[in-house]
Amino acid sequence: MRYHEVIVVGGGLAGLRAAIAVNERNVSVAVLSKVHPLRSHTVAAQGGVNAPLGNHPRGHYDNWEKHAYDTIKGSDFLADQDAVIRMTREAAARILEMEHWGCPFSRTPEGKIAQRPFGGAGFPRTCYVADTTGHALLHTVYEQTVRFQQAAERKEMVLYPEWLITNLAVEGEECRGLVAMEMATGRLETFLAEAVIFATGGAGRLYGNSTNALINTGMGMAVPYWAGIPLKDMEFIQFHPTTLYGKNVLITEGARGEGGFLVNNKGERFLANYADSGKAMEVAPRDIISRNMTKEITEGRGFEGGYLHLDLRHLGREKILARLPGIREICLEFAGIDPIDEPIPVQPGQHYTMGGIDCTTECETRIKGFYAAGEAACVSVHGANRLGGNSLLETLVFGQIAGDRAAEYVQTKTQREQGKKALEETLARTEEKIKKTLNSTGKEHPSKIRDAMQDLMVKDVGIFRNGQGLKEASEGLRDLKERCRDIKINYKGRAWNQALVIALELEGSLDVAEAVVAGALAREESRGSHSRTDFSKRDDQNWLRHTLCFFTPEGPRLEYSEVRPGPFKIAERKY
Ligand code: FUM
Repeated sequence: MRYHEVIVVGGGLAGLRAAIAVNERNVSVAVLSKVHPLRSHTVAAQGGVNAPLGNHPRGHYDNWEKHAYDTIKGSDFLADQDAVIRMTREAAARILEMEHWGCPFSRTPEGKIAQRPFGGAGFPRTCYVADTTGHALLHTVYEQTVRFQQAAERKEMVLYPEWLITNLAVEGEECRGLVAMEMATGRLETFLAEAVIFATGGAGRLYGNSTNALINTGMGMAVPYWAGIPLKDMEFIQFHPTTLYGKNVLITEGARGEGGFLVNNKGERFLANYADSGKAMEVAPRDIISRNMTKEITEGRGFEGGYLHLDLRHLGREKILARLPGIREICLEFAGIDPIDEPIPVQPGQHYTMGGIDCTTECETRIKGFYAAGEAACVSVHGANRLGGNSLLETLVFGQIAGDRAAEYVQTKTQREQGKKALEETLARTEEKIKKTLNSTGKEHPSKIRDAMQDLMVKDVGIFRNGQGLKEASEGLRDLKERCRDIKINYKGRAWNQALVIALELEGSLDVAEAVVAGALAREESRGSHSRTDFSKRDDQNWLRHTLCFFTPEGPRLEYSEVRPGPFKIAERKY
């Protein structure tokens, strides 16, 4: 049994920032991650991170209040206003911290951090490092973790890369630690801790057409869900308007922020034809653009196969090479086209999970000593639709808050190293399950069931949904769970057994997918990214509330909680 005062699960930006906050208070911390931290999905974030710095002449009057209102309006008023205010007030400090830690931000001619327009603001607010902002930020924070690891004056900071978390150990109402599998050996290990922080990222790979890394299976949401913590607002799944046609690699919103045009097969900038996107055009919020793109395609104004064009040619070679070099490389590598000379074929694709582990603005959950931050968590700052650039910000702000709160909690605890028995029992149960999975002699390969789940989610739980499709999705998921009883794993060894990992995670993915579908079926309105063709209007009277989804062996159980209002008034929705 290993012991660390705090265990952070997830080595992306939220997890590493949390670990630094813990260790800054001289509390020992371990970071467990399914991949090496520098391979976390943060590395794929491209276009930027929001902060109201006002460095651009067009945004010189920006402030946290404007940023807060844009975020709340973008959320279709489902975000909790206190949480958004917390995030936007902290934004500038977090970005300046990254600058001081050496993040190589792109610069204005006078040397300030450069900002570009992203959806929802109407002027440049998004700080960026060309089109590899997540990569630069993650490396910056990772360098700091190395500095902390080497600091002799503090307690230890330990990294455990390539470990899969299988279960939390909860005793009464308190988290005691977790059980994890070292994937290189397949060995299970118990980790005793005073506090645990989950920063495991989103659940994009519930869908086949996702921009997310393959690691984003939703397992990090499933583990606390199984332990009794509800998942909040899971029906709100973001579809990014511009992903590379057929491959769904992200083509950053920064490409539109820099002036790229979305064009249909008639050569029209079609967003002008819709009331909700007509003014902001290519930098309208993502939910709006994705819906209008889908309408263009389904009404026959797309290109054969179902895509539209993102045209960057008028930006010119110099600007594309300076601001969007990664996008050019992606287009060359994955589509064989050069956006300097040709338009990019794009289609909307799954991108982000607005919902997640239910927690407070202090990242606390209803289990004592268990915290959540980043995309895995639902604080909630994104409500029904996240603004581009607010995801990296959320990881930095709430990563630090989660780390601070967990460290404070540990420092005030009087009884330590409790819960060894609970951990041993969790280990025995998990070992039993792994043996059973490895020895199963059915006929279904887990990866085939996963693929079927991803197809089903794309088909029935996409940008537009309706009651009939969602019921079919719900039944389909039940069938897939049934098929999971009949799996086989060909390779029986424990070292790097990917089929075993897929089988273990599949159970989590299917349960999280059920939470998405249950929330979507129950929510009889359209709000943000949740667009019901059979309930096409936003219904504040009945649905200005959060969905809380609890795990039960019989299927998800729903409850609701109030959205926390604040100083910002709710505006009518444009249709
Ligand atoms: O389009 C992008 O660069 C993505 C940014 C984000 O999701 O915040």
